[in-house]
Amino acid sequence: MKRRLFLFTLGFAASLSIGAIAGCTNQTATTEDGKPILVMATSADYPPYEFYETGRGLGEPVGFDIDIARYITDKLGYGLQINDMDFNGIIPALQSNRADFAMAGMTPTEERKQSVAFSDIYYEAKNTIVARAGSGFKTFEDLAEKRVGVQLGSTQEQTTKEQAKEFPAMTIESRNRVSELVQEIKAGRIDAAIVEDTVAKGYIQNNPDLEFTTIENQEAAGSAIAFPQGSELVEKFNEVLAEMRESGELDRLVQKWFEDYYAAQEAGENQ
Ligand code: ARG
Repeated sequence: MKRRLFLFTLGFAASLSIGAIAGCTNQTATTEDGKPILVMATSADYPPYEFYETGRGLGEPVGFDIDIARYITDKLGYGLQINDMDFNGIIPALQSNRADFAMAGMTPTEERKQSVAFSDIYYEAKNTIVARAGSGFKTFEDLAEKRVGVQLGSTQEQTTKEQAKEFPAMTIESRNRVSELVQEIKAGRIDAAIVEDTVAKGYIQNNPDLEFTTIENQEAAGSAIAFPQGSELVEKFNEVLAEMRESGELDRLVQKWFEDYYAAQEAGENQ
């Protein structure tokens, strides 16, 4: 009986603290020095945008998006709390105000703009085909009869499904995490995956049994910050993004995460 009461109390305490976390999105929670905390949703399966560097013993996601988020929230006088979730859950989290904004290498598509607001674009990228080394896939046509993996809810899923209409023998496999796609390729359960170039580069460096090819003649896929519809943060964030562009801070972070980070990894320094 005592034990039950204890568990009950524990459950109650837990639900209270969940309530407190949810409250952050109304900017009621504050840091120790009194700054209101913004909750950021992300999907930390996406190096170098957001990922875990467990090798370095860091418990929080790190990466390009995380540095930008820290810079902006700091400039605007906010604290930052990062909530990691599946990519597919990010837009619902914004819509239900469980997050104040999201950074996840997210492309501002017309369809998404029906549900959330976006900042200006802060980085452009292209899609690639990731496969086992020696597969030699170069174009979408090469995948005509293959099992092709994509991240659930991503633009890659959408465009691949769209293009696959021309290839009835192609099977599309959706997974929650990019890391799962990589595992599926290694295990031979799928033949290839459609993944953004910078992200593919990182996974390939860690998995020499894989290769990637950039798909030519495609629109660049930019990344922007997402917000709940009507959020007053959009303008404030855009102002800081513009300042970061002018001051060279954004270039510095591009250099840090898209150049130096990979160079260090190649030299075996990151893990
Ligand atoms: N740029 C693509 C999109 O907007 C993929 C982003 C995936 N991001 C992630 N953190 N897994 O759909």
